[in-house]
Amino acid sequence: MCHLVYIPQDIEKEGKSYLVEKGYKIKVGSDLSQEILMEEIKGCDAVLTRSTAVINKEVIQAAENLKVIAKYGVGLDNIDIEAATERGIYVTNTPEANANSVAEHVMALILSLSKNLSLADKELRSGNFAIRNQLFGMDLEGKTLGIIGLGRIGRILAKKASKGFDMKVIGYDPYVTASTNSELEIATDLERVFRNSDVISLHLPLTKTTKGIIGSREFSWMKPSSFFVNASRGGVVKESDLVNALQAGEIAGAGIDVFEVEPPDKWNPLFKLENVIVSPHNAALTKEGSTRMAVHAAMQVEQVLTGTKPNWAVNEPLIKGVSM
Ligand SMILES: NC(=O)c1ccc[n+]([C@@H]2O[C@H](COP(=O)([O-])OP(=O)(O)OC[C@H]3O[C@@H](n4cnc5c(N)ncnc54)[C@H](O)[C@@H]3O)[C@@H](O)[C@H]2O)c1
Repeated sequence: MCHLVYIPQDIEKEGKSYLVEKGYKIKVGSDLSQEILMEEIKGCDAVLTRSTAVINKEVIQAAENLKVIAKYGVGLDNIDIEAATERGIYVTNTPEANANSVAEHVMALILSLSKNLSLADKELRSGNFAIRNQLFGMDLEGKTLGIIGLGRIGRILAKKASKGFDMKVIGYDPYVTASTNSELEIATDLERVFRNSDVISLHLPLTKTTKGIIGSREFSWMKPSSFFVNASRGGVVKESDLVNALQAGEIAGAGIDVFEVEPPDKWNPLFKLENVIVSPHNAALTKEGSTRMAVHAAMQVEQVLTGTKPNWAVNEPLIKGVSM
């Protein structure tokens, strides 16, 4: 029997070849509106999705044959896991594919902010070589990096910052109480991390409990010389509070890869601020990272459709209604 795999948003050829070589048919989507998703998912056995397609309850209900929703990436905020679980559908992700790529991107944002690279580049291109005597960067050596969320990305970042840049690292994660890494101090409250860090970097998931948890109170705890970096999910931060903190000089700058609304409006006030560097939610999208995400997600599809428990299942589907 030939299974049909729906890929709403195209992925790297390696992921598609993996499936085609194993005899699956693939259908690449034409549009990410709910209406089209509901139409195109009909009759498919698996969906392999990136983060822009919203696989909500209605979309899941339209897919009478669906057995697995394989996420290309880690964040699961675009998938209704509860609805999938109730319908007996596995949800998987690719935790081993992109953590290093994101941690490297975060280091690039931190380096860019601390060395004023974005502004120096712009000024020099407009003929202002003298800017070299006005823009003083900050050394990272001996400074403190505060990491919120000590999962895979947070821990890799801690290692890179401490071992590669001689930074002190302090982390906060409600589910982590002890550190196995002597360079990483664990704080028991968020305030201590925000008050004592020269750079704050977020690495927690967007869930009902983390939505908007970082706002004006947290920015007021930061030092005026400190930088804020977010490559987790935009929805964790109240973006207007971040803009206010930057405009008021409460913090020195920000490196932002993810936005409250994606794609962000071109008039987003963050884009007008010189002390902000932005990237288009592409921290994980290196050639290596995106190929791994495509292949790992395809492997999860194959495992479920051949009756094996997938390596990276994030739910335990209730087997009712849909035959596995
Ligand atoms: N920008 C990108 O391209 C990109 C790529 C990959 C992942 N991400 C985002 O980064 C997030 C982290 O990825 P990961 O692979 O490290 O995930 P992970 O699941 O390994 O780690 C997340 C950590 O956050 C912690 N956490 C949960 N609630 C928290 C809270 N209130 N305060 C502090 N910590 C909390 C968890 O205990 C866990 O240790 C993902 O959920 C995803 O949304 C973004």
